[in-house]
Amino acid sequence: MKTVVITGANAGIGFATAKYIAGHSDWQVVLACRSSAKAEAALEEIRKIHPQASVSTLPLDLLSLQSIRDFAASLEKQELPPLHGLVLNAGGINMKAKSLEFSKDSFEHIFQLNFLGHFALTSLLVGKMLAPARIVFVSSDLHDPAATKMGKIASPKFGAAEDAAYGRGIFAKMSPMARYGTAKMFAMMCALELDRRLTGQGIKGNTVNSWSPGVVPTTEFSNEAPPLRRKIMKFALTSTPFVRFMGSHLSTEDEAARGLGGLVTDAKFEGISGRYFDGFKEILSSAESRDATKARTVWQQAKGLAKITDEALALP
Ligand SMILES: NC(=O)c1ccc[n+]([C@@H]2O[C@H](COP(=O)([O-])OP(=O)(O)OC[C@H]3O[C@@H](n4cnc5c(N)ncnc54)[C@H](OP(=O)(O)O)[C@@H]3O)[C@@H](O)[C@H]2O)c1
Repeated sequence: MKTVVITGANAGIGFATAKYIAGHSDWQVVLACRSSAKAEAALEEIRKIHPQASVSTLPLDLLSLQSIRDFAASLEKQELPPLHGLVLNAGGINMKAKSLEFSKDSFEHIFQLNFLGHFALTSLLVGKMLAPARIVFVSSDLHDPAATKMGKIASPKFGAAEDAAYGRGIFAKMSPMARYGTAKMFAMMCALELDRRLTGQGIKGNTVNSWSPGVVPTTEFSNEAPPLRRKIMKFALTSTPFVRFMGSHLSTEDEAARGLGGLVTDAKFEGISGRYFDGFKEILSSAESRDATKARTVWQQAKGLAKITDEALALP
């Protein structure tokens, strides 16, 4: 038996992926969710579909570094099979927010939810993962200004991670979409940097990849938007021609679960690392996300922001 942790596993793509992996009898699935009521409901739902499944829940709020540290400590105390999978799925944008929102850690929400929280969690868990282990960062095609029309309109920007974290400098007046694309780009840079560090330390068999779903219109992703905007978005994002025109592709939650879950369970991905998948297809991520010098800078700055000491950075 092997354990996989899935963040944001109570809804949308994370829930579909948890169901998918729970259907594999050799995996124990840990639903890492901020709401214990929603996590319990998801667990019940999965048990209805897969009565034999090994599923459990553990609280995790990515907008709190303390919660992330508590999660890592509690996971270690659980008597679970060895950790072989980490799916960094939780994410989104609060579209109702009229101005920047900041967490208890004083970090801008979009930055912490879509990047820094997962960076901290991965740093605390990676050394506890047993080879062959697979880490997958859930991204978005919006990380790449050349990939979609929306990416062009709301382009991600590279700059000091500290500025992005505190919503200052070039990040002070950025649109939420551009902020989101930037956070996803930072996460992908750190995925590649982690892959390089694992290889550099001669750690074999552990893999780190990024994955984007395209557009999955049925999730709760845009439910936070004001009602009229939500209606327009739902209409636009369920139209195949419109989504193609924008440069993306539509996907169901089940397809997304097979794409994302497959990266964890499927033998054909053994040893495949440092790659980017869009749905079921491997493609190149944006040129900037592959810039190793910029990635090293983001990694160092994120380590400082998340207060990850060399001792805590659990690289074996
Ligand atoms: N849907 C799409 O078209 C699309 C496109 C590109 C990329 N993505 C990415 O795919 C991933 C999943 O999105 P989705 O569409 O499935 O969205 P969703 O249905 O809104 O699910 C998001 C999940 O993240 C959790 N979450 C939110 N804030 C959290 C926090 N502070 N701590 C822990 N968990 C938190 C949510 O928990 P609650 O239920 O408690 O809010 C929920 O479980 C995200 O990373 C998103 O950026 C989605």
